[in-house]
Amino acid sequence: MDSADLGKDLTEVLIDEASIDAKIRELAAAVDADYADKDLLLVGVLKGALMVMADFSRALTSPVEMDWMAVSSYGAGTKSSGVVRILKDLDRDITGRHVLVVEDILDSGLTLSWLLRNLRSRGPASVEVLTFMRKPDALKVQVEPRYVGFDIPNEFVVGYGLDYAEKYRNLRVVGTLAPHVYS
Ligand code: IMP
Ligand code: MG
Repeated sequence: MDSADLGKDLTEVLIDEASIDAKIRELAAAVDADYADKDLLLVGVLKGALMVMADFSRALTSPVEMDWMAVSSYGAGTKSSGVVRILKDLDRDITGRHVLVVEDILDSGLTLSWLLRNLRSRGPASVEVLTFMRKPDALKVQVEPRYVGFDIPNEFVVGYGLDYAEKYRNLRVVGTLAPHVYS
């Protein structure tokens, strides 16, 4: 672990910088190939997807467009509430567009299944999902991401965009928090 571990708050690094970098390139190569003849609109889900979006979009070779949505699902806790609210909607119409939703992590899948229903009702040409991480519970719901970075264990993780009470998003790695942080 390097200085980016923000002290002693992480117990374990699940995904280090080199692994993140390699996976982002792999995902970008797949998306480049699949959308070679299409105009692509990336839709990032704030705030968690911000690091994935920044790295993934720059690893692509085509000039994609980007838009953002902010939805609430967790509050300050560590469990999904199932209640989704749009805090910030897309700036542009997506009718007829090829949309790729860029997500940080799929856990219960509640947020994403709600979001996909919402986006599909707007008449896009296609909607697919790229998620950087996926937890086991996400396999139980009817959400099929086309691109998955890492399948991780059912633990609460922070870093690379993911927060605990808005902190730790700026970690360069993905890791689990030490118990003392919660208390
Ligand atoms: P879901 O609705 O349970 O799939 O989770 C939706 C959102 O909750 C994700 O996009 C993340 O922003 C957040 N989330 C889920 N799991 C974690 C985690 O382990 N750490 C931090 N945020 C998480
Ligand atoms: Mg998210």
